[in-house]
Amino acid sequence: MAHTLREHLADSPLPRLEAQLLWRQVLGVSRAWLIAHDTDPLDAAQEAAYRALETRRLAGEPMAYILGRREFWGRDFRVTPDVLIPRPDTEALVECGLQAIAGLPSPRVLDLGTGSGIVAVSIALDRPDARVRATDCSPAALAVAEMNARALGATLLFSLGNWYDTQLDSGRYDLIVSNPPYIDSQDLHLAQGDLRFEPRGALTDGADGLDALRCIVRGAADHLRPGGALCVEHGWDQAAAVRGLFQSEGFSDAASQRDLAGIERVTWGRLAA
Ligand SMILES: C[S@@+](CC[C@H](N)C(=O)[O-])C[C@H]1O[C@@H](n2cnc3c(N)ncnc32)[C@H](O)[C@@H]1O
Repeated sequence: MAHTLREHLADSPLPRLEAQLLWRQVLGVSRAWLIAHDTDPLDAAQEAAYRALETRRLAGEPMAYILGRREFWGRDFRVTPDVLIPRPDTEALVECGLQAIAGLPSPRVLDLGTGSGIVAVSIALDRPDARVRATDCSPAALAVAEMNARALGATLLFSLGNWYDTQLDSGRYDLIVSNPPYIDSQDLHLAQGDLRFEPRGALTDGADGLDALRCIVRGAADHLRPGGALCVEHGWDQAAAVRGLFQSEGFSDAASQRDLAGIERVTWGRLAA
């Protein structure tokens, strides 16, 4: 006998909200439709498609990978297992970058380690006069970033490479932004929760968590114009160490900004003019 959506939701081992999202994915409908039609009978193909998604979720796969998308800075981004799942914390990085170039006409921006492209695309769409280059060492991640730029109507330049060792633009940048891998390779969280499914190279630098940040901060002076800004995201306990790096590399006014949870999440500074 055919079951209804209401019966399925009542029986689901998943939290109701997750089950609803999976049903919306299977049926391709809005939340309002789902509520209005919850007594409609479901056919066998729909039930099988739902079961396949439910099984993945029960095995711990993140919702963002199952649904293939995640909202960031008010826009819907495609995500695949080739990229880090966008985190709300990273909105602090976008905010910091946009503040750093506020009032500057046609700024030149470099996003190092763009992943799904959330930072570069958000800045490019909020500042259409900016020239934004997005880089990554993962060709698969760059393909996702390109797909997001195209789908959201952002014009970006892309290059593949190891931090600054890639095709860059002639002239210097007004802003460099980066959310690099910053988890210590020994951190036990890497083997837990969503992190188990995310690309290891997006999470950890394979060292103490500050290796990529050191490389980015040390290289910045060669690529920023005098007075140009560097904004980086880092771990909850890394702000003091990152400010120290900034200070030793010619950023005398380094300061950290807090994310929505009140954690010092982003450090930024301007290169001495
Ligand atoms: C923490 S993820 C950030 C992705 C995206 N910017 C975001 O905020 O969601 C770090 C990104 O840096 C890239 N990455 C890691 N090592 C790199 C390297 N040596 N050179 C360039 N990119 C690198 C990873 O592939 C990954 O996409």
